[in-house]
Amino acid sequence: MIHDPNRVYVFDTTLRDGEQVPGCQLTTPEKIEIAKELEALGVDIIEAGFPISSPGDFQSVVEISRAVKTPTVCALTRANRGDIDVAVESLRYAKHPRIHTGIGSSDMHIKHKFNSTREEILERAIDAVKYAKRFVEDVEFYAEDAGRADIHYLAQMIEAVIAAGATVVNIPDTNGYCLPNQYGDKIRFLKENVKNIDKAIISVHCHNDLGLATANSIAGLQNGARQIEGTINGIGERAGNTSIEEVVMILKTHPSIGLHTSINTRNFYELSHMVSTQMRMPVQPNKAIVGSNAFAHSSGIHQDGFLKNRENYEIIKPEDVGFPSATIVLTARSGRHALKFHLERLGHKLDRAELNETYKNFLTLADNKLDKNDDDLLSLLVSDNVYSQSFAKENNKLEN
Ligand code: KIV
Ligand code: ZN
Repeated sequence: MIHDPNRVYVFDTTLRDGEQVPGCQLTTPEKIEIAKELEALGVDIIEAGFPISSPGDFQSVVEISRAVKTPTVCALTRANRGDIDVAVESLRYAKHPRIHTGIGSSDMHIKHKFNSTREEILERAIDAVKYAKRFVEDVEFYAEDAGRADIHYLAQMIEAVIAAGATVVNIPDTNGYCLPNQYGDKIRFLKENVKNIDKAIISVHCHNDLGLATANSIAGLQNGARQIEGTINGIGERAGNTSIEEVVMILKTHPSIGLHTSINTRNFYELSHMVSTQMRMPVQPNKAIVGSNAFAHSSGIHQDGFLKNRENYEIIKPEDVGFPSATIVLTARSGRHALKFHLERLGHKLDRAELNETYKNFLTLADNKLDKNDDDLLSLLVSDNVYSQSFAKENNKLEN
């Protein structure tokens, strides 16, 4: 098979990094349901859990391995043989198993988490990859806190783990610390200076502590990474992980980047809803791509422009992400054009004078009532007697 150099692999960790959020724990059947939807979405890799962490997580990896066929199923471990043995066992039914092992790479983690030295950590990293490689061909290595690691040590570590057999090297910005140009430069440095880098895929795994996870992931892809790790709705530890739907839609909306994924973007909205419901984690209304307001136009200027040509204010078609449709929300900031649009949707064509009159009443209503439904709009017509006039007109038309 010829490898497409512009294809980006999508690695979903909703069920592992996403599920680490307090209060978001799922049962195994719930995880299976999400895993099947992730398969339908077209993700390439599902990180199904951290099997050593609990019997429930172990069982979820076993069951997800049975339930999905196309994607690779991945299990997380720390860099030790005990974790790897348990992960191997949990992946026994996976058609395409992957072990994701790794260790801290920043001096902060080496000294203050492992109380160790760079040399010892390097040995542990190499040993973990070699050991995992005894059981599975596909081994991904993560250099935790790579965002804050010394670039020369990071490059040495990445070269060593690729030599030990790693097929994917994950460069996590674990603390969401980097700026996009710093993270992009880091990936480019590895691409240009690690001599065996062409034997592995570079993966980006960004956290959102400064709200930069998506920007950093894109910077990483633009500098040579070809796998992106993230979660649906961007859920995850603290401020969350990279939101998969954002990265995928950025690549789709900007073909000039020259990269593509195999994601069925029309499945995003439904899956977002499922993840939010099952994890009891509401999606903020203004969340890009899947928030309830992502395609809602409410100010008069925008509504007018949108109604003239939707592309004035719509860079993504809602149907491309499975969103029911764009909405024109009536608020006190809406103009006559938007009101006319809704009244016509309800079957009432008003002439200019009628519309002006109704609009005045509408503004009074809008200043006093936040939620305006169709009955409220119809009541404007009734109270103004426009309703009966426009009805009479329509009836005359039918009779003539
Ligand atoms: O953020 C991180 O560094 C991680 C690793 C375990 C991959 O989630
Ligand atoms: Zn993470």
